[in-house]
Amino acid sequence: MTDSNNSRSARTIAVTAGRPQNENDPLNASIVLASNFQSSGDYARTHGTSTWAALEQAVGELEGGQCLSFATGMAAASAILFALHPSIVVVPSVSYLGVRALLSDMQDHGHVRVVSIDIVNTEAVVKAMKAASVEVGAERVVLWIETPTNPTLDEAEPEILCRAANASNVKTVVDSTFASPIGQQPLKLGASVVMHSGTKFIGGHSDLMIGLALTNDAEVFEKLSRARVVQGATPGALEAFLALRGLRTLPLRYEAATKNANEICRRLQTHSAIEWTKNVGPMLSYIVTGGAAAADRVCATTSMIITATSLGGVETTMERRQKYAGDAHVNPGLIRMSVGIEDVEDIWSDLEKALAS
Ligand SMILES: Cc1ncc(COP(=O)(O)O)c(C=O)c1O
Repeated sequence: MTDSNNSRSARTIAVTAGRPQNENDPLNASIVLASNFQSSGDYARTHGTSTWAALEQAVGELEGGQCLSFATGMAAASAILFALHPSIVVVPSVSYLGVRALLSDMQDHGHVRVVSIDIVNTEAVVKAMKAASVEVGAERVVLWIETPTNPTLDEAEPEILCRAANASNVKTVVDSTFASPIGQQPLKLGASVVMHSGTKFIGGHSDLMIGLALTNDAEVFEKLSRARVVQGATPGALEAFLALRGLRTLPLRYEAATKNANEICRRLQTHSAIEWTKNVGPMLSYIVTGGAAAADRVCATTSMIITATSLGGVETTMERRQKYAGDAHVNPGLIRMSVGIEDVEDIWSDLEKALAS
């Protein structure tokens, strides 16, 4: 994969971007522990720090846009919605429960109206977006695209959706957390804003929380910057440093984990205890025959694979999702697995034993 601006590959950008540039500088960005700066009047929340800037530079080069870092993925989502200030948000009905909870609360407070759609039904999404534009004006509509979706791994057609939205002057936001900047670069497909929970693949080691928002639209960037200043959901210095360190190996980790996930998925497809399975990159979902009880047993029986809720780390984790109120509508036997970079035979042997139980 290459970056269209300068034709350097993602692997090279991940390793080289965001490094200090002056002679005798350290190789890596420093962990700047500062709220206050001498003489300039700079203050971290309002002006940022060089640690954040290094991370933002690197993610920005990978995605092909201007980047801002936030305290968490949800902080980035909140800032995006605050900045774009929509009256109607068209959102996938099956998607990350945290963003749907945020939108539901905003709706309860009378700030927005939420229109839930099946994100894979491109025609229906475009129809809903156009209907919303007619109702409140295109500038008051946001099309929120999550692809692939959490936890069912539905894949939207972001290029077609962004083109249709741009033609109608509707802003699009793509939550690209599951794909990471390696799996897709939605700004290049016409998205207005891209967001990541950097907590996941970008950090890659399950040891930090961070969020990222990117855009190529100068006006939107100004609004996002303002949202970060006034809402104050800024990242920690150590988190920004660690996220950048994680990013250095993102392409390698993502490729290795995808290779493992492809193989696990291939084997699950012919397994007698599996009703359905799919993977997109390292994310793999499968439905166990026997419903919730059987799926819970599988999760409880593995010895190496960790039952845990988050994803995107070097380690393989999995979880039955329907136990959460926000995911009550998904199949009770659905297990979402974030495949790691262990030896694929060790992952398979652990999973196969658990499935036999
Ligand atoms: C698709 C998606 N978007 C956003 C988030 C929120 O990110 P964070 O937990 O960093 O706030 C998550 C977290 O699981 C997620 O899976």
